[in-house]
Amino acid sequence: MNEVKRIGVLTSGGDSPGMNACIRAVVKAGIGKGIKILGIEDGYKGMIENRIKELSYKDVNNVIHLGGTILGTARSDAFRTLEGRQKAVENLKAHQIDALILIGGDGTFAGGMALTNEFKIPVIGLPGTIDNDIHGTDFTIGYDTCLNTVVEAVDKIRDTASSHHRVFFVEVMGRASGCIALNSAIASGAESVLIPETVTDIATLAKEIKDQNKGIRSSIIIVAEGDEEGGAKEIMEKVKPYLKGYDLRYSILGHIQRGGSPSAFDRILATRMGVKAVELLLEGKKSLMIGQIGRDLVVRNILEGTTGTVSNDDLGIELLKTLLTKR
Ligand code: F6P
Repeated sequence: MNEVKRIGVLTSGGDSPGMNACIRAVVKAGIGKGIKILGIEDGYKGMIENRIKELSYKDVNNVIHLGGTILGTARSDAFRTLEGRQKAVENLKAHQIDALILIGGDGTFAGGMALTNEFKIPVIGLPGTIDNDIHGTDFTIGYDTCLNTVVEAVDKIRDTASSHHRVFFVEVMGRASGCIALNSAIASGAESVLIPETVTDIATLAKEIKDQNKGIRSSIIIVAEGDEEGGAKEIMEKVKPYLKGYDLRYSILGHIQRGGSPSAFDRILATRMGVKAVELLLEGKKSLMIGQIGRDLVVRNILEGTTGTVSNDDLGIELLKTLLTKR
């Protein structure tokens, strides 16, 4: 009793490297199984505006290596209203779309749940965000690439910081999650890291920097943009009065963290998840998200991705504490 003949796919929220690899996998798996895949432009916004078109093999040729998303993405206020969702569903029906694959973060998943609850449309969510903040998966599509981009940038900052004997505050993305900050700090050998999940104390930070500078030529402090004491610039200004005689600089990495060709890891993750999503829908499954735990793909209720939180253990805070205190 396979009712699914036409699947819609969209990317929503902040783009992330590997989204194209995922769209490609959905299209290839779908066409290979004899069903139609329809691409919805600019996420839920395009769904409301009826910007929906069938995707062919040709549309996904040579996109696996591209950053961004060929479908475009958006954050839609209109979709938050019932009226907006009704319009979106009218358009899905006009295109005879039976089910949806949603690539994005928790907001994207929440939008999908609304479509299921209100209009009984089957959805599968695939975690696509650089933030790696989705409960139910060890990795989100795009996080590995982002992390590598950050580490490469911090390595370069280290060169100049060491040459000039400077203390650098480097701001990375993550409004509510310190995952990028924490793991880029581990991988780049940063001296300190400030994240929203832990309490930042400016006086303690200043003391740490002084202690570090007794033996080394530079200090790198990674700051998650969502730290409660502020971003890199604000933290630098707050710590300045404690650090007379130190040469302080800050750098905000910004949106370079979201772009670029996806790493092999992200391409493979995205491809596995995309194929699995098509298989699940053809088996009649719905309201699920796919994650990867260890090396295995796992299938969870999509609610987990919208409500759960990533724990400090998962983040690796303990490992970092060890690295920093054994200096
Ligand atoms: O959710 C992904 C993310 O890159 C966050 O890390 C960041 O806070 C936010 O998006 C930035 O969004 P925008 O591109 O809309 O400024």
